[in-house]
Amino acid sequence: MNQLIINKTKASFIEKFQEQPVIFRSPGRVNILGEHTDYNEGFVLPAAIDKNIYIAISKRKDNSINLYATDFDENFKGDITNVKKSNTQWANYILGVVDQLQKKGHVLTGFNAVVDGDVPIGAGLSSSAALECVTIFALNELFELGLNRLSLVPLAQKAEHVFAGVHCGIMDQFASMFGKQDHVIKLDCRSLEYEYVPFKLDGYKILLLNTNVKHNLAASEYNTRRLQCEKGVSIIRQHHPDVKSLRDVTLDMLKQFVEPIEPLVYQRCKYVVQENRRLLEACEDLARGDIKSLGAKMYQTHYGLRYFYDVSCKELDFLVEYVKNIPSVAGARMMGGGFGGCTINLVQEDAIEKLVKDISFAYKEAMNLPLTAYIASIENGTGICT
Ligand code: GLA
Repeated sequence: MNQLIINKTKASFIEKFQEQPVIFRSPGRVNILGEHTDYNEGFVLPAAIDKNIYIAISKRKDNSINLYATDFDENFKGDITNVKKSNTQWANYILGVVDQLQKKGHVLTGFNAVVDGDVPIGAGLSSSAALECVTIFALNELFELGLNRLSLVPLAQKAEHVFAGVHCGIMDQFASMFGKQDHVIKLDCRSLEYEYVPFKLDGYKILLLNTNVKHNLAASEYNTRRLQCEKGVSIIRQHHPDVKSLRDVTLDMLKQFVEPIEPLVYQRCKYVVQENRRLLEACEDLARGDIKSLGAKMYQTHYGLRYFYDVSCKELDFLVEYVKNIPSVAGARMMGGGFGGCTINLVQEDAIEKLVKDISFAYKEAMNLPLTAYIASIENGTGICT
């Protein structure tokens, strides 16, 4: 939690609305392994981090929705009886959640809210999921809707589908809601069963390197990948009607039925099937504390995302290539949806300072862009700020 941001958010709320708010927070996330597997009913291994979106909020007696986003220094006004997608992107995440609650039959009045945070936007750390989660958690408390944490997750995800147009899986919202300090979440995206796996790194830290790019392709290509995976499943179902998703598919099935007629779809599906298997093995690495073996799998994941799933970009590739032969780096890969954002690196703590200095210089030389580095610690999920 960042007390400075909490104080600032509270002060700006009081100044705007002349009353005391309640403040909630939701974290961004990292994902150790299991990328683009969530919407294929596979496994993911995310964790909530020490960067949050905060919302200061109070109920109104009338129907007005009054929002203010500190980051953009922008106000938004709406009406609770007429919630629709707006041209204000950040407000859509909040409105999308309201829309989902209303569709479930919950009756809300207007509210005032100020949002702020330190999850970098567009960095692949799920600032949007954090905003959806903090909003739905806050509204559930404020209006005493009585929904449990688990039932909030798919509503927040659906808000992203409908109001942001990205057909995301469930990983980001789940991690933001269910994060647990010093643990990663092994989540089965088919059953939503989950297990907290201790994340002990013995001298290693999670270092995030932000490319500071977000290519426009991100949303449209994401949705295309989803469709390509569904296409692969539909081809296999003609021969194996019991197959429901790529979770049920083997490499042999892909080779036999998909590769001959849809070579591109084959590449995409192959990556997903391999990634699921890799994740299960990575959990064994974690249990043994075998950081080297885990790190090697992260490089393999990057390779798959770059060449088979085709969601990387030159900036991400540069960062992964740079660290690949540095002994103090156990593993690295692009993280999240792709086409920009961060790489996640497991780095020996005492080597971080020099690495960041060197790689920032090299990145600037090669890409003419600044690099931003964060050391991420693993923290608890969404909650109230006391
Ligand atoms: C984005 C989506 C997630 C997930 C990742 C890729 O972060 O929101 O649901 O699909 O991409 O693993």
